[in-house]
Amino acid sequence: MTPTTILLSIFAGLAYAGPLLRRATAISAQAYSEIELVEQWAAASYCPANDNGTAGAEITCSVGNCPLVDTANTAIVIGVPTTTQADTACFVALDHTNKKIVNSYRGTESFRNYLIDADLSMTDLSAICTGCRGFKGMYRGWTDVASVTLAAIKSAKQSYPDYTVTVTGHSLGGGIATFATTIIRNAGIAADMVTFGAPRVGNEAYVNYTMAQTPALGTNYRVTHTLDPVPNEPSLNSGYLHISPSYFITAVGTAAVGPTDVEYVVGTDVEYESGSTSTEQTVAHDNYMGLPISTCYPVNPDGSIPYSVGGGF
Ligand SMILES: *[C@@H]1O[C@H](CO)[C@@H](O)[C@H](O)[C@H]1NC(C)=O
Ligand SMILES: *[C@@H]1O[C@H](CO)[C@@H](O)[C@H](O)[C@H]1NC(C)=O
Repeated sequence: MTPTTILLSIFAGLAYAGPLLRRATAISAQAYSEIELVEQWAAASYCPANDNGTAGAEITCSVGNCPLVDTANTAIVIGVPTTTQADTACFVALDHTNKKIVNSYRGTESFRNYLIDADLSMTDLSAICTGCRGFKGMYRGWTDVASVTLAAIKSAKQSYPDYTVTVTGHSLGGGIATFATTIIRNAGIAADMVTFGAPRVGNEAYVNYTMAQTPALGTNYRVTHTLDPVPNEPSLNSGYLHISPSYFITAVGTAAVGPTDVEYVVGTDVEYESGSTSTEQTVAHDNYMGLPISTCYPVNPDGSIPYSVGGGF
């Protein structure tokens, strides 16, 4: 959820305000509405009721931060609760209103999640693509749920061949969603990737490969927000790059976001300006498209998150 003290100390000294290449033109209306809707699908995976939900149940956000999803006609295909070693939580659901099959991954909420966030070394991903390497912990987060998730997406696509597949997630969930998308496409299913505040997850061969899957196998929308520090991790120096292009929300903090507040950014070696205080960083990381993205996860009565160590993405 929040990039708290431990994350900041792990990455101390890495905050860097480097070149952010922005294209002056506004993003397309289609890209904007896709990002606006799917941000709410990403928020929905923070609600335990959705990840724990049974087939056929509607997706709903108890804290009211996914109105476009709440009002759509939705049905869970499979909920994947937090039973794995990596504690990955996600769901696959149908959106009959927008004709989508959505696979949404929750971000960090537990110590087990934190452990996979911290395992930033690169692992061999040659099973995905030649020469590919990527974020070991987040890849583990994907492999723990890969078979059930892929099976649910394949069966949903068979039942609803005219629906598009969208894979999403915020933070850790965005990192897992990135791997999931590349692999779903490798299975012959076109899928759109829409991530929010995701870290870098792969080397040059991996990002090149995933970028080359578009447009034939779907579109990549990697969304970042002002002073969010997470997209700067793991570092460029350690061989990680980002998928390009991406979409940068310029509206500060919790401010509302409209079509002119999202910029189109080109570059795999993009670095973002990071907040100079942990409050600035946390507010930027936890608010996307003018909505709090992770608040559906239950908090302790004092407002703290329900595990003591904290940290991670
Ligand atoms: C969701 O499922 C997990 C794992 O079975 C369980 O620990 C948790 O209490 C459930 N949460 C809710 C809100 O049902
Ligand atoms: C990735 O693509 C860039 C741009 O086309 C190219 O210069 C680079 O050699 C490629 N790298 C790998 C490892 O494929």
